[in-house]
Amino acid sequence: MNPVWTIEKKRDHGELTAEEIGEFILGFARGEVPDYQMSALAMAIYLNGMTTAETAALTDNMLASGARFEWLADDRPMVDKHSSGGVGDKVSLILAPMLACCGLAVPMISGRGLGSTGGTLDKLEAIPGFRTNLSMDEMQRVTREVGCVISGATPELVPADQKLYSLRDVTATVPSIPMITGSIMSKKLAEGLTALVLDVKFGSGAFMKTAEQARQLAESLVATGARMGVATTALLTDMNQPLGRMCGNAVEVDESVDALEGRGPADVMEVTLALGVELLAATGVASGDAARGQLQQTIDSGAAREKFAEMVAAQGGELDAPRAVAPATEVTSPRAGHVAAVDAEAIGKTIIAMKGGRRQKGDVLDLSTGVEMLVRVGDAVDSGQPLARLFAQPGDVAAASAMLLDAITLNDASAPPLPLIVDRVAS
Ligand code: URA
Repeated sequence: MNPVWTIEKKRDHGELTAEEIGEFILGFARGEVPDYQMSALAMAIYLNGMTTAETAALTDNMLASGARFEWLADDRPMVDKHSSGGVGDKVSLILAPMLACCGLAVPMISGRGLGSTGGTLDKLEAIPGFRTNLSMDEMQRVTREVGCVISGATPELVPADQKLYSLRDVTATVPSIPMITGSIMSKKLAEGLTALVLDVKFGSGAFMKTAEQARQLAESLVATGARMGVATTALLTDMNQPLGRMCGNAVEVDESVDALEGRGPADVMEVTLALGVELLAATGVASGDAARGQLQQTIDSGAAREKFAEMVAAQGGELDAPRAVAPATEVTSPRAGHVAAVDAEAIGKTIIAMKGGRRQKGDVLDLSTGVEMLVRVGDAVDSGQPLARLFAQPGDVAAASAMLLDAITLNDASAPPLPLIVDRVAS
């Protein structure tokens, strides 16, 4: 294969064969195709898209670049949920232990913050001692013993994605449906799942800015899951404002623990329960109200809180050790009015400005910083009323307060609240 011919063909709108894609992707994973040629192909895919057959070949070859989990000795259904990424999205921390309490096993491979969206691994690392770099054996052992694990992809799992993901991040090629499909589904398929639910987000704080783009991504992900024999459904959920009150790292762990103790914000719990119901139904455990009741019971009984503590301990963390949170400052409203919009992406960028997210690969984070939203779209506010609380180091307060105020649009006319779960996609 000559990589240049493959790039030329995609550049000129040709359809690549499975062999061409396989040789390119596996060659890239082995280090034979250099980063500059992979970047050129990524840009050609970003600009010209891929057919369903090409997307399937991309996913299959990314999966084939590494190892997969084997669950021979475990007869529990293996399930996972994956979010396409948002601001304030801490659902994984709450849902994984809830599902484990319902008799499912959750071997969750998660990622770090990408663009202005937060990352589950960064959040969990705010727990003193928590390890997100478990080996495949360790992940399988914790899944077997505890019922859930949340860790990063190991070097053996889908190495093609690990290399491609960092290239896409720095070549402005992330929001491409075929490449997001290949990236998400190759990792999920490597987990050896029975069922998968996808939380595909749309809006200012998501990669997909409109519900229509999110639907196209959801359809691509669901079709790929079905083709590979994994029961896959997707919910389209709003990311035009942050999910819950807390956005950041340590503060999102705090809010997750609150949720596991029965004090979760209504929107976080609505999305968490809806995603959980999908997995209980797909595995035949329970459906509809019965599934919802079973999930709620894991919170009411304290079992999910206990399970989370068990998982944290199994991954070396100390849940009850104090988590550092930067000093709080309230940001108040300059006028009376109604909250017409909250720019979730701008909130994500405010967190990056406070070093709670990365500007570039390798940046060291300050996990103690964050934002607490005190208003939501549709709320009426008085002049001087606190709109948000910043958790910032003293030198960052002025700039971060200004960014936060810019992110919140106030109008005279009242605005309707935003619907949260707008659709469901199944194969
Ligand atoms: N999440 C992933 O795992 N991959 C992407 O490409 C985007 C979001």
